[in-house]
Amino acid sequence: MRIFVAGATGAVGRLLVPRLLADGHHVTGTTRSAAGVQALTAQGATGIQVDVYDPAALTAAVRQASPDTVIHQLTALGDYNLADNSRIRREGTRHLVDAARSAGVRRVIAQSIAWAYEPGDAPAVEKTSLDLEATGPRGETVSGVQALETQVAELPDHVILRYGLLYGPGTWYRRGDRIDELFRTGGFTATDAVTSFLHVTDAARAAVAALEWPVGVYNIVDDEPAAGRSWAPVFARAVGAPAPPRGAGRAPWERGADNTLARNELNWKPEHPSWRTGFGTLAG
Ligand SMILES: NC(=O)c1ccc[n+]([C@@H]2O[C@H](COP(=O)([O-])OP(=O)(O)OC[C@H]3O[C@@H](n4cnc5c(N)ncnc54)[C@H](OP(=O)(O)O)[C@@H]3O)[C@@H](O)[C@H]2O)c1
Repeated sequence: MRIFVAGATGAVGRLLVPRLLADGHHVTGTTRSAAGVQALTAQGATGIQVDVYDPAALTAAVRQASPDTVIHQLTALGDYNLADNSRIRREGTRHLVDAARSAGVRRVIAQSIAWAYEPGDAPAVEKTSLDLEATGPRGETVSGVQALETQVAELPDHVILRYGLLYGPGTWYRRGDRIDELFRTGGFTATDAVTSFLHVTDAARAAVAALEWPVGVYNIVDDEPAAGRSWAPVFARAVGAPAPPRGAGRAPWERGADNTLARNELNWKPEHPSWRTGFGTLAG
């Protein structure tokens, strides 16, 4: 199959590309930098230097690649600027979907998130509504997610992967990165807030598997949504940081997500079914 990976050099993309190549696909991957093109070439993919905010160049790139499927792994979180990330969800997705349409692409697979659901007490399933009443920074995040998902669904053949919070290589949740640093500087409190995690390898595996999945929206998370009081001490031990102080309470939307649909309908089995063991990979 011919596959166009938008965001091929990110935390997920750089694990996804070699897997697609190993399965015999022809992969074109995008990046904004010459170094990114070099990295993609070294992996065996065709690297294209293009900015998603340049719709003419993006359209030309997709047309030239003439893919069967576009995989959208674009995020703008390098500087932890959530407004940038909302923009890429809205405007970047708009340009990518338009480019895909104009190139006659059959299927689009897109990265979304599994923590944009409305408030509740149990882990959210896919039918749970998005948290459209949210305001402030969370409102901005949720409306960006809604824009991304709505635009992707303009192509009848689409799969939306609502990923859990990523941990592992290239993510914030690893030794020496953003969250480790928060733990070390006392900036994190372990509360009742429930998170669903996903090892970044499982995020890449799901994007490969989604080439064959039925059209739909799926929570791609591990099997064990967990309160901060449970997971944070285990994360701290794994990265060698001090255990964080404990607190109480959670925001009503901090409920985690349920992967029953993906497990039952798609036979989705994460390689790292729980952060309990998965965090063990962060040591060293
Ligand atoms: N579900 C989650 O928890 C989740 C999901 C995603 C990311 N994250 C976190 O976010 C952090 C940063 O993510 P990341 O390393 O994947 O990097 P990133 O800076 O978010 O970039 C991701 C991809 O998007 C591309 N991109 C960004 N802006 C672009 C633009 N204007 N035009 C074209 N391509 C563009 C990047 O390409 P180039 O930079 O090569 O141009 C890269 O391939 C990670 O530490 C990760 O933990 C978390």
